[in-house]
Amino acid sequence: MDRNIALELVRITETAALASANYMGRGDKNAADGAAVEGMRVCFESVDVRGEIVIGEGELDEAPMLYIGERVGSGYGPMVDIAVDPIDGTNLIAKGLPNAISVIAMTEHGKMLKAPDTYMDKIIVGPKAKGVINLDAPVSENLKKVAAAIDKPLSDLTLTILDRPRHEAIIKEARETGVRIKMFNEGDVAAGIATCFPDTGVDILLGAGGAPEGVITAAAVRTLGGDMQGRLRPMSPEEIERCHQMGFKTDEEIGRLLNLDDLVSGKDILFAATAITDGDLLNGITFLSNRRVKTHSVVMRSSTGTIRFVEAMHNLDQKEILKRFNL
Ligand code: FBP
Repeated sequence: MDRNIALELVRITETAALASANYMGRGDKNAADGAAVEGMRVCFESVDVRGEIVIGEGELDEAPMLYIGERVGSGYGPMVDIAVDPIDGTNLIAKGLPNAISVIAMTEHGKMLKAPDTYMDKIIVGPKAKGVINLDAPVSENLKKVAAAIDKPLSDLTLTILDRPRHEAIIKEARETGVRIKMFNEGDVAAGIATCFPDTGVDILLGAGGAPEGVITAAAVRTLGGDMQGRLRPMSPEEIERCHQMGFKTDEEIGRLLNLDDLVSGKDILFAATAITDGDLLNGITFLSNRRVKTHSVVMRSSTGTIRFVEAMHNLDQKEILKRFNL
């Protein structure tokens, strides 16, 4: 893939993030999401790829734009699989809470898992703990092995986990080991990626979040040299049917342990994220005077291992693409 596409991706996440920025705290997550989706969609038109949305806003009947199977890009260039989440953490932006991001991952065609819209049990760690995790092992065993691998006493290890009743047992067992626990309300893509950056102080993510978000996170974790395992967790007969429709034909296939390579197997993975509200890794969008707005993004590429942090200053009056939004 042309390396310039990575920078095109960051333009896309910046635009989606900016398009939704004025909805912060307005209590309307659908309006925020709609603006981000449109921002992302219009930006794709100028990117030289023949892309297929593999992880998107849902099926065609649920989503008018960025639906699963939609073809995006200029129609020139490599055939690629694309995973998007125009806003991960729609309630966060609606309430003005931390950790909302706009995110895209791209890799060679046919190399990304087509994940159904169900939960996925997840375990995610950074590069130093690669190879020591096992989703099927007890929580305490994973925590001990990760602590040893990254050379921290258990009491210094930080587990991050969605604050949900379904995680009660994990949290109880983790508390008994003495680790630090950082619960979050939404947005497990940003939380999962944080495990791969030692400066965030977050060492391991456990628990169930969205399966589509799991595939997007896997793209970043592979690029960063971390590790992850997942398993689909459908919660109703309808969700099981959804798994069947997406190619998981039997109970064994649905229940299979998914390693990083099962989630995203491409050799050339591009990943970009722009923060909408402040997070562990990136500062959120800041409105300055004179119609200037600052964004913070991360963009990375697996084939070179380059990770760029991009701080951009935008002039809202000069940005043609943003004129259609409420900015
Ligand atoms: P949305 O932005 O689509 O609302 O998703 C937010 C999110 O927190 C994801 O990051 C996470 O994977 C999932 O929802 C968790 O689902 P639930 O809120 O049902 O526990």
